[in-house]
Amino acid sequence: MAAPALWETAFSQVVEKTTKQLEKQGYVILQDILPENLLNDLLQHLQSLDDEKFNRAGVGREKDYHLNRFIRRDEIHWLEGSHPVTRDYFRWIEKLRNALNRQLFLGLFEYECHYAFYPPGAFYKKHLDAFKGANSRILSTVLYLNPGWLAGDGGELVIYHPVNDEVLEVITPDFGKMVIFLSEEFPHEVLPAKTRRYSLTGWFRKNNSLSQSIDPLL
Ligand code: OGA
Ligand code: MN
Repeated sequence: MAAPALWETAFSQVVEKTTKQLEKQGYVILQDILPENLLNDLLQHLQSLDDEKFNRAGVGREKDYHLNRFIRRDEIHWLEGSHPVTRDYFRWIEKLRNALNRQLFLGLFEYECHYAFYPPGAFYKKHLDAFKGANSRILSTVLYLNPGWLAGDGGELVIYHPVNDEVLEVITPDFGKMVIFLSEEFPHEVLPAKTRRYSLTGWFRKNNSLSQSIDPLL
């Protein structure tokens, strides 16, 4: 049998590490798992979007402007697979979704994602991405797109213990780093960024369309 292509070897290692760590601790921190040209293209695409394509992020269905501003200050742009760059990313994510479903039986059904831009001073206070049984988010993914991020730039992702609130990880948003965690389990926050902070954040969801309407709670 022919030897697997290099990227296939790398991908199977990503799956192995992700499976192991998700089983053991519920989250995984991966570095440089996507091809560098894809990372560069994503960053370029994100930066090419006009300001008006980014919307102030809100919190769930909460429409209260002041409450939202108190909780989070990032700006987001939801992605579709129609642009060549995002299509490549979605293709990679689809491979990951299938592999994780085979390994972990998580029933991951679809993926939604957005670019996020934190202007200087922006933060996202401690929160959960999903409430048990509420909005069907199973796994959160955050891919960072910040070349040359420095220790003093802030903007770290802090992951807390699901039960005792202890700080488990303080993660710098370095270019090419991806964090994946169980959406219902881990409270987390983004500390104030001192400089422009870019990421691509997404969620694998389970199929929620069994009950009459699609996603009744969102
Ligand atoms: C989110 C989030 C984390 C990060 O968008 O829900 O928690 O590090 N992002 O950007
Ligand atoms: Mn979050």
